[in-house]
Amino acid sequence: MINLTGNELRKKFLQFFASKDHLVLPSYPLVPENDPTLLLIGAGMAPFKPFFTGKMKPPHLRIATSQKCVRTGDIENVGRTARHHTFFEMLGNFSFGDYFKKDAIAWGWEFVTKELGLHPDKLWVTIHTKDDEAFEIWRDDISVPVERIVRMEDNFWEIGPGPCGPCSEIYVDLGPERGCGKPDCAVGCNCDRYLEIWNLVFTQFDRDEAGNYTPLAKKNIDTGAGLERIASVLQNKKSNFETDLLFPIIEHMEKVAGVKYGASAHTDVSLKVIADHGRSMVVMIGDGILPANEGRGYVLRRILRRAVRHGRLMGVDKPFLTAIVDVVADIFAEPYPDIGEKRAYIKKVIQMEEDRFGATLLQGLDLLNKHIDELKAAGGKTLDGASAFRLYDTFGFPWELTEEILSENGMSMDKTAFDDAMNQQRERARAARSENARIDLPDLTGVINAPVVQDPCADTAKIVVILKDGKVLAEANDGEEAAVILNVTPFYAESGGQVGDAGVVAGPLGKMRVSTAQKLPDGTVYHVGYIEEGTLKTGDTVKVAVEMPRHLATARNHTATHLLHAALKQVVGSHVNQAGSLVGSDRLRFDFTHFAPVTEPELAEVERLVNQAILDNIPVAAIETTQDLARDMGAVALFGEKYGHKVRVVVAGDFSKELCGGSHVGSTAEIALFKIVSEASVGSGLRRIEAVTGGGALEYINSRERILTAAAAALKTRPEELAGKVEALAAEIKEVERELAKANVEKAKGEVQRLADNPVTIGGCQVISAEVAIPDIEGLRNLADMLRDKLAGKAGVIVLGAKQGDKVSLVATATPQAVGLGAHAGNIVKAAAAVAGGGGGGRPDMAQAGGKLPEKLADALKAAETALEGQIKK
Ligand code: ALA
Repeated sequence: MINLTGNELRKKFLQFFASKDHLVLPSYPLVPENDPTLLLIGAGMAPFKPFFTGKMKPPHLRIATSQKCVRTGDIENVGRTARHHTFFEMLGNFSFGDYFKKDAIAWGWEFVTKELGLHPDKLWVTIHTKDDEAFEIWRDDISVPVERIVRMEDNFWEIGPGPCGPCSEIYVDLGPERGCGKPDCAVGCNCDRYLEIWNLVFTQFDRDEAGNYTPLAKKNIDTGAGLERIASVLQNKKSNFETDLLFPIIEHMEKVAGVKYGASAHTDVSLKVIADHGRSMVVMIGDGILPANEGRGYVLRRILRRAVRHGRLMGVDKPFLTAIVDVVADIFAEPYPDIGEKRAYIKKVIQMEEDRFGATLLQGLDLLNKHIDELKAAGGKTLDGASAFRLYDTFGFPWELTEEILSENGMSMDKTAFDDAMNQQRERARAARSENARIDLPDLTGVINAPVVQDPCADTAKIVVILKDGKVLAEANDGEEAAVILNVTPFYAESGGQVGDAGVVAGPLGKMRVSTAQKLPDGTVYHVGYIEEGTLKTGDTVKVAVEMPRHLATARNHTATHLLHAALKQVVGSHVNQAGSLVGSDRLRFDFTHFAPVTEPELAEVERLVNQAILDNIPVAAIETTQDLARDMGAVALFGEKYGHKVRVVVAGDFSKELCGGSHVGSTAEIALFKIVSEASVGSGLRRIEAVTGGGALEYINSRERILTAAAAALKTRPEELAGKVEALAAEIKEVERELAKANVEKAKGEVQRLADNPVTIGGCQVISAEVAIPDIEGLRNLADMLRDKLAGKAGVIVLGAKQGDKVSLVATATPQAVGLGAHAGNIVKAAAAVAGGGGGGRPDMAQAGGKLPEKLADALKAAETALEGQIKK
């Protein structure tokens, strides 16, 4: 075995595979390109997925790299074992449909035994249980004794969706003194005796999101060999942390914290955590990741804040992370010189994040300890979700950190309740963002000293002012809503009915997603948005980019608004004048003066004219001129707006000329399609047309077509025959209704006869009181009228009740003679309804009521008779 530094080992590996005709590439950045399935590169093969699947052609069929990797799946183990890392480097040789098992195995063996000098007697290999081919190669070609070839069921390598396959590993036996001593200790044991240093994946499948495995057209090789692990073997160290790839950070921290490595298990864990996390955060920031509350920015935040806490655990109560940058930069000076070059930047990002967390960490820890004490006292084991969320929201504790501290105390947190609180907060923030893009503006007198320029081509600017909560601030941090004013901006600010542009303002240390741009009363543009990651500071030089698809969609709608205005004047009359408009990216709204609804044929003609202008591909130009000349040109000036001496006229050939400061297409054909969606009144003499253009128009038409298709399918006909079918159906329904009405009348007549034949007499009054099966109050009233007619000239009272589902209806009528005797239909019905769980009443001769207790209907009718009795006795 030879002793090599980490750098020597990396170089030796790459040179060895270069000698086997491999193209040696530098490590890819940690941020995957074009791979939404992956947050961070976590394996040497990850950047090569398209080469394995055949979607892209590799520059060479054999490639070798030493790849920077971040994995956080078992971050809680980091610091507690000899091998776990969040950041590590993976040595890899790859074959894309070129060599396969035979060569990969032979070269792997040659490298570890010949180049690194590991003794074959100390090596073991594993294979997939069913991989006889690999077994034979190891036994026959390499001459590994069969008792040291171990078949394992789980020797299959995959990481999420993508290329994968069975694998074969090389292990080093570090000797019984490093083992657990258990009688069954063998390859695969969790202890430190057998160390996996080489993993050969025979990449034969492509796994999709749903978990299906499709065989790949070509067979590939993906090798992963942990640089730090092999270094620990060659440098004869008990753990990766003691190799030259990590130990300088531990030595540095020994001084900072005043502790000795090896003196206490507790401080050793913290030293190792900081060594590992220190490398991760430096490399991540160097690769362009900024702290954030989501995605890979959150991974960075979590790692960084975990490191801060371990500093505190060792008694380091001042910021200490930035000093680690130099140590890491030195370790990586040879393979990653860019880290050294970006030193100042990386320190800045770390310092800001450490300051932010440091400010609240102690208070948060106090609070968490209090919770833990309370739980202990109460014999509880679970921290409630609200308290855990407060630690996250107010004190910046990544929830995993809270969980880890709890678990150190044998406790856990209510993660479901925490998630609920988190989702509610996200929901609130989203709603606030979309409903209210405006922000409170402070008095800016004297704050902006130089003019703010508008330039559609600007891509770089300087932050002049940052505004938040009605105040001018020096900076805004991720997760915050803010507004920024730039010295120059390509953003169109909301005005003249046109919405403001959206886009991105990206500084050296943070990024803002701009939801809209607006204007101060003096015309200064400000950008309203949400800080997605990192921090923006006053004075920062920023990259600015307008979200072009939205801007172009808005421009299409704006030019279309002018065409619509012109077409309305042609079709409806020259009295049509604009009375307001809203030009959005998804639709346009145009209000205008007109005394009557625009008729269907007029609308169709307006739409045709606008689309004809689009087909004619008329160039659209903006001309700066004077008011007078604009008027001479026949430009339409809108609602007496006070334009300055200089005006801008937007001209679309002879079709339209309008004074306007907004965004427009270069030629009408860019609008593609214009479709009126609605026409309605919005006040006296004011109409509103809403319309869509471009992709929006296509989507509108498609959605209409989907409705049509669904309706036709429901009626089992074709869309072309739908209208006829619906008309026929409507006629049929009318006919059925007529029949039904006739039948109901017949039925009612029968009822009338039956009831009229059986009156009772109460105090000289003929009384018909009955439950009938008439489902509507209208029918009930008709029946009561018919019965009253039957009793015409006599003293008669009719009380009818009907059940309708879980309700009852009651109707009472009384002839004039009955009323003369003292009968009062209103009071009768009231008494009945009271029994049936309802109320109502009315005139002496006619009243109705409802109730909610159908089962009480018979009692209610009895109560009506009793009420009548009482009335007549008086
Ligand atoms: N891709 C394989 C691994 O990460 C080699 O272990």
